[in-house]
Amino acid sequence: MLSCLGVAGYGVFGYALAAPGTTVHPEMRAVFERYSAAIYAHVFGSMVALLIGPFQFLRSMQQRHLNWHKKLGWAYLVFGVGVGGFAGLFLAQHAFGGRVSQLGFGALALLWLGTAAMGLRAVKKRDIQAHRRWMVRNFALTFGAVTLRIQLGSCFGAGLAFESFYPWLAWTSWVPNAVAAELWLRRRRGSTPAGSN
Ligand code: HEM
Repeated sequence: MLSCLGVAGYGVFGYALAAPGTTVHPEMRAVFERYSAAIYAHVFGSMVALLIGPFQFLRSMQQRHLNWHKKLGWAYLVFGVGVGGFAGLFLAQHAFGGRVSQLGFGALALLWLGTAAMGLRAVKKRDIQAHRRWMVRNFALTFGAVTLRIQLGSCFGAGLAFESFYPWLAWTSWVPNAVAAELWLRRRRGSTPAGSN
């Protein structure tokens, strides 16, 4: 929760209090200035997902405050993943670092939108277990925004050149999260009695 809050705070600082791209590489800044509507939609949309996501997994939200879980769930899906994800998919075509980062961010955007659609489909069919599994996968991808900033900080800390590492972060920021979510779901499935949540 705290790390999500931290990255959302960075979004507010970098994009509400400053001109878009103030905090990034000059080539990225040029893209953000050119497509300012897309970067604003992406940062502020995705921020909704990052802020709401952690609360949706709390047992108390799912059991005692189901109405809130539903309302926040719609906001997560529509504004967070919907607005943030389609804008992210658009920006992926112009991502800094060429084909490697464009494909990495593009794949992330498609999986983000796809897992959200599957989560919604499952809950519409009243399959709560499948809904939870798809939303765990989806939030693991949302959390890529946090992993990316941790990896950025580590690479800068190690004295590496931005141009050399950034394209790879478009993959390393989310693939381990997706694998960890899958392993966790598998382990949980093995230890949970059939029919329970
Ligand atoms: C999970 C799906 C996501 C995708 C596919 C995605 C994609 C992208 C892309 C393509 C860029 C432009 C990068 C470049 O030009 O090199 C970008 C930048 C950015 N994204 Fe995302 N993103 C995602 C999630 C998030 C989340 C959850 C946040 C949280 C607020 C976020 C915040 C930002 C910010 C602040 C930038 C501007 C770059 C910076 O200042 O660090 N993104 N994103």
